[in-house]
Amino acid sequence: MYTFTNQFNSDNNNMEFLKATMMGPNAMRVSEELASYLNIDANMRILDLGCGCGLSTLLLRKKYGASVFAADLWISPTENYERFQSIGIDDKAVPISVDATKGLPFANGYFDLLFSVDAYHNFGDTAEMLPSLIPFVKKGGHIAVAVPGIKYEFGENVPDEMKPFWNEEVARTIHSLAWWKDLWSEAEGIEITDIREMNCCKQAWDEWLTSPNPHAAGDIKMMEAENGQYFNLVQLIAKVL
Ligand SMILES: C[S@@+](CC[C@H](N)C(=O)[O-])C[C@H]1O[C@@H](n2cnc3c(N)ncnc32)[C@H](O)[C@@H]1O
Repeated sequence: MYTFTNQFNSDNNNMEFLKATMMGPNAMRVSEELASYLNIDANMRILDLGCGCGLSTLLLRKKYGASVFAADLWISPTENYERFQSIGIDDKAVPISVDATKGLPFANGYFDLLFSVDAYHNFGDTAEMLPSLIPFVKKGGHIAVAVPGIKYEFGENVPDEMKPFWNEEVARTIHSLAWWKDLWSEAEGIEITDIREMNCCKQAWDEWLTSPNPHAAGDIKMMEAENGQYFNLVQLIAKVL
């Protein structure tokens, strides 16, 4: 399932690139698992929403040959353009700045696939977000999301070992598979075709913790406290009707 990621990682220069561009659990590995549940091909136009530094974009462009709009809020399109040039994907990877909460600058029905890895939880936790995105995907196309989650809703009963890490923002964004299923079930115009816990959770987190990114260093203590008890990665795929 992870042939592209494993091969990419086997090269030392690529490993350095990966470590420098990860912003959370290894987005290339998570993307490769999510993509394995979709029929992606070179004729497709994909919106990679919340692409960060573009590891998911790289996977979609290089493994499948797809055209990708790499849209992000925190990472500038100029930074991503320079990175895409350096790795030879700037021909069919278009960096763009968006804030998903403010509406997207695309035509209705423009994309075959809306793909989002480790980003959707930041902005997709409202009943309004999914319905606002559906029109940009053509009928018969898909919306595929992978988010960090928890095995059950903590509510008021946050486990003691997780309390140091459970601030308001984490509580707002990190949810269980059942919570996401309920939220997506409210949306009209889609059929949920797949919801599951992802297999790559531990490996993708372990890879992230090797990154020199200061946030990764901060996450080491959290992952030690969590110790495989609570966290998962949740995959959601819906077909646009
Ligand atoms: C943890 S980073 C992950 C980046 C990348 N997907 C990865 O996995 O490496 C979360 C990303 O979500 C993006 N994001 C957060 N809020 C957003 C919004 N309202 N619209 C678009 N992107 C957003 C940020 O810009 C950031 O790059």
